[in-house]
Amino acid sequence: MTTRTAKNKPAKKGTAVTAAAKKRLAKKTAKPSAATSENNIKGKLYASLVVQLLSLLKGEHDFIANAANFSALLFNSLPNVNWAGFYFLQGEELVLGPFQGNPACVRIPLGKGVCGVAAQQLETIIVPNVHEFPGHIACDVASNSEIVVPLFDGERLVGVLDLDSPIIGRFDDQDAEGLNELATVFVAHEEGLGV
Ligand code: SME
Repeated sequence: MTTRTAKNKPAKKGTAVTAAAKKRLAKKTAKPSAATSENNIKGKLYASLVVQLLSLLKGEHDFIANAANFSALLFNSLPNVNWAGFYFLQGEELVLGPFQGNPACVRIPLGKGVCGVAAQQLETIIVPNVHEFPGHIACDVASNSEIVVPLFDGERLVGVLDLDSPIIGRFDDQDAEGLNELATVFVAHEEGLGV
C-alpha cells in the first residue's frame, strides 16, 4: 500500500493545453521544481545516513548495541518521526527490539497491525493515515502515519524496522527506498544474526 504521488496521477481529462500554457510549462520545467529539490534533499539525507550508519557499525558486532544505535540515528536525523525501532521475529510473533520513542507494545502476532502485515506479506508498507488502516496497533497517540520495512537475512525474515510520524502522509517511496537501503546495510553487517 503506497501513496499515489503527483507524478503518477493521471492528467485531468478535457484540459486544453494552449500555446501560452505550454510556454509557461517550459519556463517552469527549466528550473528544478520544488518537488525535485525536495527529493534531492531527502536523497542526500539518506545517502548521508548510509555513511553515518556504516561508521557506527564499523568494528562493532554486538547486535543489540548496533540496532540501538541505528534506531537512535534514524530517530534523531529524520524530521517528524516520533518512534523508530525494531521488532524481531520469534516464532509466529514479532517481539520489541531496540527503539527510540515512547514505550511500545511488546508482542505483535504475524498478520496483525502494520508491522504484522508487513512481516507476513514480506513487503514494505507505507500507511499515510494509520487511523484508516484496519487493525493498526496504536502505541503512541501522537502517531498519524507509519512505514514498516521488513528485514531479511538472505531469504529469511528476521524482523521489521518501524517508524511512526505525527504528520499525515509523512512517508513516501523515497523514504521506503532509503530505509530499505539502510536496513540492507545493517543486516549485511550483522551477518549470521542470532534472531
Ligand atoms: N503501529 C504498529 C505497532 C508498533 S508501534 O507503532 C511502535 C502496528 O500497527 O503494527
